[in-house]
Amino acid sequence: MARRFEGKTALVTGGSRGIGKAISERLVKEGAKVYVIGRSQENLVKLEAENPSINTIQVDLRDWDKTKASVEKIGIVDLLVNNAGITHKEFFVDEKKEQFEDIINTNFKSAFNITQIMARCLIDSCRPGAVVNVSSVVGIKPSVPGLSSYCISKAMMDMLTKVTALELGPHGIRVNSINPTLVKTDMAKQYYEDKEFMQMFLNRHPLGKVATLDDAVNAIMFLLSEDSAMITGNWIGLRSMQTVGFFGKPFILFDIFGKTALVTGGSRGIGKAIAECLVKEEARVYVIGRSKENLERIKAGNQSIFTIQVDFKEIGTKRKHLWKNWDCLFACK
Ligand SMILES: NC(=O)c1ccc[n+]([C@@H]2O[C@H](COP(=O)([O-])OP(=O)(O)OC[C@H]3O[C@@H](n4cnc5c(N)ncnc54)[C@H](OP(=O)(O)O)[C@@H]3O)[C@@H](O)[C@H]2O)c1
Repeated sequence: MARRFEGKTALVTGGSRGIGKAISERLVKEGAKVYVIGRSQENLVKLEAENPSINTIQVDLRDWDKTKASVEKIGIVDLLVNNAGITHKEFFVDEKKEQFEDIINTNFKSAFNITQIMARCLIDSCRPGAVVNVSSVVGIKPSVPGLSSYCISKAMMDMLTKVTALELGPHGIRVNSINPTLVKTDMAKQYYEDKEFMQMFLNRHPLGKVATLDDAVNAIMFLLSEDSAMITGNWIGLRSMQTVGFFGKPFILFDIFGKTALVTGGSRGIGKAIAECLVKEEARVYVIGRSKENLERIKAGNQSIFTIQVDFKEIGTKRKHLWKNWDCLFACK
């Protein structure tokens, strides 16, 4: 294995389990001196027993001042992975102040705090560095109801990636994020153990699979390494293309995926825009229009739209034909 990080110091938050543990172990293999922050002493002791060369720091990241004091003790950090995260399921209207604060403090404020300390130190010593924020695809587009605070915390993290990339770039510090959907860890257990949810998830994923820890680690390692030397302020999505819509049977409010839709007057204007949106949501879309020319144009721009040429002024004579063929046209949907 290449030792790309020889001589570098790395800090991974939430490195005692899941994605953070996997990235810490890979960083060690690639030559970095690794510090891991975790909250549970028990998990950190387990990590140290498995990987004696990893340095562990027990601190609750929700505590700004204690976190600051612990991180400042490390000194220069060349590579930072803001990975620690928590989530819970609660509808927006029922979310408690404490729940909201827990999520924002852990997922976002800790990243803000630690990136600031790391950056100040690197700037003072004129050294380059790299930061990877472990965000989520729901920070870009929420897809599961009941995760409002989590989605907001990840959206804040994505903005942190952009603003810090802008301000720290001139100092040679790059900042990027990975935005996974599902990775097989404790956090995602409730989803990948739900067969119905998983079937829907896999149907929507062009690769038809869930990201492994290795998939997540490979993306993070790329962003930390010189292989991505010209990349900053960007995100890598370990995701499905279909990130709009609602996942999970109990929460389905409106799901267009796989449905058949008919848009009248869909060859131009608002109708055309609606038809195109429906295609993006993976509906099977039929468009009725009068002008053959306009229908051909929409078809040329979007191969998956089906077109039907009907002039509604002639509906009296054409109606029979249309209704007679309704079943085969729309497959009874
Ligand atoms: N798994 C997924 O499907 C998925 C998808 C998208 C994004 N993500 C993101 O990926 C990151 C890692 O997720 P994961 O699945 O690996 O989670 P995980 O297995 O639940 O691990 C979470 C880690 O964060 C640490 N942590 C939590 N709260 C902390 C606090 N207050 N202070 C210090 N450490 C704390 C935990 O430490 P303790 O052991 O001490 O509790 C643990 O090491 C998270 O930011 C998550 O939002 C995950």
